[in-house]
Amino acid sequence: MTKKMLIAGNWKMNGSLAANEALVKALVAGAAAPACEIAVCVPAPYLAQVQSLVAGSPIALGAQDVSTQAQGAFTGEQSAVMLREFGVRYAIVGHSERRQYHGETDEVVAAKTAAALANGITPIVCVGETLAQREAGATEEVVKRQLAAVIHVNGHCISEIVVAYEPVWAIGTGKTATPEQAQAVHAVLRAQLHHAASDHAAGIRILYGGSMNAANAAELLAQADIDGGLIGGASLKAADFLQIIAAAR
Ligand code: PGA
Repeated sequence: MTKKMLIAGNWKMNGSLAANEALVKALVAGAAAPACEIAVCVPAPYLAQVQSLVAGSPIALGAQDVSTQAQGAFTGEQSAVMLREFGVRYAIVGHSERRQYHGETDEVVAAKTAAALANGITPIVCVGETLAQREAGATEEVVKRQLAAVIHVNGHCISEIVVAYEPVWAIGTGKTATPEQAQAVHAVLRAQLHHAASDHAAGIRILYGGSMNAANAAELLAQADIDGGLIGGASLKAADFLQIIAAAR
């Protein structure tokens, strides 16, 4: 099964109407015929703006979160149905910042994954260990537990998800996992997906995220089980993000 890599930008809570327009126009101009798939996951207020900026380009629109619920009394939330109205194709689910600052549990992440899938949005499910967990030798156990909850709830359609391995200690810190460290965890996740989805596991994209940048992307993306990147800081600079896209296939 052939799969294209996915290079997804996670803008987090950054941007403005003016900055978004300049960034996306540069991306559209610079990525006219990419070898990989590209997405930008933007803050919710800018979905409509970026939807029109990427129209007709190879760049897909993504959200940074999705509610477990379809509609109703859930102040501050956005449902997958609403996101679909803006042409959203991807939604980040279970980012470590959501787990840390918003108390999202493995069960909530699994339910958000299900809500996205039920509405034709591809969830980018984030897993990753903290520095303390890595130092305690618990990396494998942590990421397997996080992914297991998602597999448990979404078993029959698990082949439709994207997984992102994002070691928490590497996010926004400038400390990237070495290609070998990343590949080792990706191989663990691939084996777990293989157990759940057998033949389809090879086609599931497992992205690396955590200080991926223009300088280190090629080496990370060369690893056997790294199928793309989820990029924070470097996705806000058109030249850097385009260089990462150029390193992907
Ligand atoms: P970073 O963020 O590239 O700025 O480390 C990645 C992420 O949190 O998705």
